[in-house]
Amino acid sequence: MTRPPIAMLAELTHRCPLACPYCSNPLDLVRGAAEMGTEDWARIFREAADLGVLQLHLSGGEPAARRDLVDLAAAARAAGLYTNLITSGIGLTAARLKALDAAGLDHVQLSLQGTDAAMADAIGGLEGAFARKLEVARQIGEIGFPLTLNAVLHRRNLHQLPRAIEMALELGARRLEVATVQFHGWALRNRDALMPSRGQAREAGRIVAKARARLRGRLVIDYVPADYHGDYPKRCMGGWGSTGLNVAPDGTVLPCHAAQTIPGLEFWSTRKEPLARIWAENPAFNAYRGTEWMAEPCRSCERKTKDFGGCRCQAMALAGDAGATDPTCVKSPLHADLAARAEAHAAADAAFVFRPAPGRETAGQGA
Ligand code: SF4
Ligand code: FES
Repeated sequence: MTRPPIAMLAELTHRCPLACPYCSNPLDLVRGAAEMGTEDWARIFREAADLGVLQLHLSGGEPAARRDLVDLAAAARAAGLYTNLITSGIGLTAARLKALDAAGLDHVQLSLQGTDAAMADAIGGLEGAFARKLEVARQIGEIGFPLTLNAVLHRRNLHQLPRAIEMALELGARRLEVATVQFHGWALRNRDALMPSRGQAREAGRIVAKARARLRGRLVIDYVPADYHGDYPKRCMGGWGSTGLNVAPDGTVLPCHAAQTIPGLEFWSTRKEPLARIWAENPAFNAYRGTEWMAEPCRSCERKTKDFGGCRCQAMALAGDAGATDPTCVKSPLHADLAARAEAHAAADAAFVFRPAPGRETAGQGA
């Protein structure tokens, strides 16, 4: 029997007031009119809890763009799920945060585009967003939600990492997630504008190691290094179809946020099939589950149950084959070329291509 997932990421909407050029949403965004309504999501939360899911991440786009966000948090609580809101803070007010608290929301994860207004507003593409975010962070602290700060780092803002760590402390966060940008979706399109240099990547690793030692017991720092400059890939999604799943705004169930970039896989919808059946039987979930699908060098590698061959979507994007070894692994025949190209991307001079911000002009069902 397939083990149940631990976590579910609910992409409630792709609408968002920000336009970050590294957004993990697909290039082809789900429009507001195609979003599922409150009752559909509430049913899926119950199905997820019955399946064995413990943690629910309410995400987007910007989940606060949904007018029914408080009702959705209440539905998640009624289903018995531990619920985390992943937000830029834009669209949250003190009254809404209090209502979310009363509805049973357990945790807030606030994204940080930069550590000052000039950087943050330039990356997010919205003037005034940083000031608004700081106000929301203050309100989160007043209510007493456990807070995680979530910073995506890249060539333009990596030098702000020390300040991001200090901000996490000042804002009362218990955890800081520092992820060097992962090249999927909009980030892949912006690789020439976002790729850090090898020197920057190494320096970031040193800063995190020092801060972890200094802040032990005060702040937990999760760190995703720059994989193009590394030796081994990350264990993406904890292994395909292993511990987590994503539900897109229109109800399509995905093994990860970028899975639709892999051609030939058919993804089922919760509007038509129960979540438990999709998890166990959808051939797309079984395509790269476990280790049986692996070819060499992964098949005979001692790390294969550690990283499950890396990221399937990255293998698709870089090797043209989702069943290949992730080229960020030193054992991939493509690794040396990738490392050389990483330096070229880092040296390129490119302007950002911002993702569209459909939340600024569209209103969707249930939101
Ligand atoms: Fe991981 Fe495959 Fe590389 Fe081994 S060869 S470290 S299993 S990606
Ligand atoms: Fe799809 Fe890594 S993002 S498997």
